[in-house]
Amino acid sequence: MKDYKKAIYEGAKAALPSLEPTDIQAADAFCDYCIPCFKFAKVLRKSPAAIASEAAAAVVIDGIGVTALNGYLNFTVEREGLVRDLFDGGIGAYKPLDGKTVCIDYSSVNIAKPFHIGHLMTTVIGGSLYKIYKALGANAVGINHLGDFGTQFGGLISAYRRWGDEKRLDERGLDELLELYVKYHSEAEKDAELAAEAREWSQKIEGGDEYSVGLFKKFKAITLEQAKKVYARLNIEFDSYLGESFYVDKVGGVEQKLIDKDLLKTSDGAKIVELGDDMPPALIRRSDGASLYIARDLAAAYYRKQTYDFDKCLYVVASHQALHFKQLFKVLGLLGERWAEDMVHVSYGMVSVDGMALATRRGNVLYLNDVLSAAVEKAAAIIDERNPELADKARVSESVGVGAVVFDALYDGRLKDKNFSLADALNFDGETGPYVQYTHARCRSVLAKAGYSGAQSIDAALLVDDEAYEVAKLLWDFDDVVYNAALKYEPSFVSRRLVKICQAFNRFYNADRIMCGGDMQTARLALTERVADTLAYGLSLILLDAPERM
Ligand code: ARG
Repeated sequence: MKDYKKAIYEGAKAALPSLEPTDIQAADAFCDYCIPCFKFAKVLRKSPAAIASEAAAAVVIDGIGVTALNGYLNFTVEREGLVRDLFDGGIGAYKPLDGKTVCIDYSSVNIAKPFHIGHLMTTVIGGSLYKIYKALGANAVGINHLGDFGTQFGGLISAYRRWGDEKRLDERGLDELLELYVKYHSEAEKDAELAAEAREWSQKIEGGDEYSVGLFKKFKAITLEQAKKVYARLNIEFDSYLGESFYVDKVGGVEQKLIDKDLLKTSDGAKIVELGDDMPPALIRRSDGASLYIARDLAAAYYRKQTYDFDKCLYVVASHQALHFKQLFKVLGLLGERWAEDMVHVSYGMVSVDGMALATRRGNVLYLNDVLSAAVEKAAAIIDERNPELADKARVSESVGVGAVVFDALYDGRLKDKNFSLADALNFDGETGPYVQYTHARCRSVLAKAGYSGAQSIDAALLVDDEAYEVAKLLWDFDDVVYNAALKYEPSFVSRRLVKICQAFNRFYNADRIMCGGDMQTARLALTERVADTLAYGLSLILLDAPERM
């Protein structure tokens, strides 16, 4: 992709002393780029309008027209050149993060807890960032920091021993564990002995007792089996499933570093790090010797730095853990670790759900897998109506239903709270996953009907009418959009651009007859193919499939 901004900077700097690259602003209705000339008025002792019109006469840049208006210097990219530039470049060839390593901690489920709707955002934001970073050339490391440590597992074993049995556990899996867990808590309120019993079991797990460790491993396997089913539906991958328990024996090493820097204080028998007036202290170890969540995260941070030597380490975790991450990064900073600055809490807002029947809630929890299945069922009904002859209906419904949920989750900026509605997410005419998937399938069917075989050389001058050019322009800087999504940790940049491309394509499709014969037809088919390929690529970055037919 041609760097027009750079060309403008190089071309205009002689006429505008003290011009900086950041003075060049991107598009509005009148131009593709512009430079406001107000800041030069003082130095040049002329009005901004005069500066702009003199510069417009003096500056010559290949492929770009220059005009002046009201103190602005406006730059208009020549359409034919941009279209040619679009077809000269490949899709996804831009690799600005080559050689960089990015750890991404996402989804991070808790053992023996249901995989519920609250995990949707961390899972899909993290999973999408993983794809985006990889696409940009980075070495992405997907980490599921399992919640597999804590006294709750002792409680679960004691509940299982009292009220559970193996056959039911094998049959009902997580449902059974959840019920046992709920029962344990209500009984423990009445019976103090239960808590003592639970503590004994959790000590046995830590001590490596064969029976207790075996049961815990079973709980873990049941949880992961369920989670992996959901990951497969969502196109989510991980490189590591190392959870909190892995770091328990590494907390001592962190404490030693804290002692060496004289940072570890004792308060009421607990070990803490004071963080100044604007933050509560970080609790490293309780007075009974048990390590805390932040201590295991400190150990994990060192482990990740040593193992992967990351350039960035992201934590995709809900906003209610903001203080935890502030404390975590602050402690690392106090320890003098420069790389504390490379750690980012990628926070997101709350999700609530409309239109899911209460019957699908089990034990008052809305399982993510059930939400996906409900969406797939609705998608199947819609597809049945729209296209009863479609082959492979089940697979397409799965792609469309699951895709609708994921797209909806990734459509708004991540910090915004969301109220999720299945009906809205599945609206084929709205700004939705199904709309993008459908537009992609429509492109493919145009190409198939035309017998288009691809890769023909085209005349760029034939794609400069307003409708075609608008499409071309949105495709042309798609790589930049992906790069910005990585820099801001915002997959929504990608989903929003995909919708814009679809809207522009549909305007083009209605305004310009594609099957018009001759070189014009070839050019319009080539643009259609480029739209389809870009949509498929973009959808893959936000975890969606791109069915060929819908
Ligand atoms: N399991 C935790 C929870 O559900 C999230 C863990 C996030 N990752 C981390 N390194 N602390 O709240």
